[in-house]
Amino acid sequence: MSAREIKKGIYWVGAVDWNKREFHGPTYHTHRGTSYNSYLIIDEKVTLVDAVDEDFVDIMLENINSVIDVSKIDYVVVNHVEPDHSGAFPKVMEHIPNAKVFCSAKGKDGMKAHYFGDYDYNIVKTGDVVNIGKRSLKFIEAPMLHWPDSMFTYIEEEKLLMPNDAFGQHMAFSHIFDDENDMDVVMNEAKNYYANILMPFSPLITKKIDEIVNMGLEIDMIAPSHGIIWRTHPEKIIDTYLKWAKGETERKAVIVYDTMWGSTTKMAHAILDGLVSEGVEVKLYKASVSDITHVIGDILDAKALLVGSSTINNTMIATIGYFLEEIIGLKPRGKIGASFGSYGWGKGAVANIEKKMKEMGIKLTHEGLQIKYVPTEEDLKKCYELGKEIGKMI
Ligand code: FEO
Repeated sequence: MSAREIKKGIYWVGAVDWNKREFHGPTYHTHRGTSYNSYLIIDEKVTLVDAVDEDFVDIMLENINSVIDVSKIDYVVVNHVEPDHSGAFPKVMEHIPNAKVFCSAKGKDGMKAHYFGDYDYNIVKTGDVVNIGKRSLKFIEAPMLHWPDSMFTYIEEEKLLMPNDAFGQHMAFSHIFDDENDMDVVMNEAKNYYANILMPFSPLITKKIDEIVNMGLEIDMIAPSHGIIWRTHPEKIIDTYLKWAKGETERKAVIVYDTMWGSTTKMAHAILDGLVSEGVEVKLYKASVSDITHVIGDILDAKALLVGSSTINNTMIATIGYFLEEIIGLKPRGKIGASFGSYGWGKGAVANIEKKMKEMGIKLTHEGLQIKYVPTEEDLKKCYELGKEIGKMI
């Protein structure tokens, strides 16, 4: 996609990656692709804010050169070191070796560790302002959103916030603004992004949004570094982030299970029926055929998580172990749950699932429900009652 003017004299000069299907590792599946957003500000000091993945450097340079010769760039802002935003940096700097580079202290350490070059690094802190002519850039450190080095750049004269990873979505696009896209799709991808990347940092997000509010920053546009730009609904994504960060949930439960011969499937469906009888929305996933990215997205605003597995070799099926390890790292907040599963001659799955659920901070409301071999009508009634009781608690 070619350069787009997003405000008078400010251009998107990034790259759209339609084919990206996995993001930083195998668990985040980006089935809609992604974008690496980079912004060029034409002012007395021509300024570039963030770069792109190194595989897209030629596209980015082409976009910059369509607006102004890349050699005219005076300042480069590095909001975040992660290679999806800085990978193109060394090749850009070949054209502008004397440009001033603005980043946080940890940003400088990170850039030197990644790219070794001796550039003109200038460390900035929260509240520092750099004048670039008609406009000034204000910096706000945002450690752990998403790395220790992360910071936001704000242009007061434009009421424009460039928060890098925050408020982003992994989705490729042909139309760059929120109001040009299907908002249900955008919000769903924003949710997957939050759940799979930012969920562990929720307490920091609440604090950061409060800090921005207390700084009195007026925001009429948010230009993140992934996905569409918020020009019509910036308040919608801020309010929704606050809701997610505070752990606010819906009347909703997620059931994740796997099975050897179908007994645990029967249990899962009976539990679902019990939950539904109390008016609870339920998402049911068989782990081995489900996309973990979407499961995690659904867990974000669910009150209850129920996890089931048949016992195999005295423990759970490996797909459930994989899922639980991923969730432990994401630190879900304020959830209740229970485990269930079938076994043959020895138990193990339910006890090990419970151990992991406790480790991730889930409050277990019931002792794990275990059924020998194949559930009878009576066993299925117990499953239904478990769902119903948890449904009442949601
Ligand atoms: Fe989009 Fe933390 O990188």
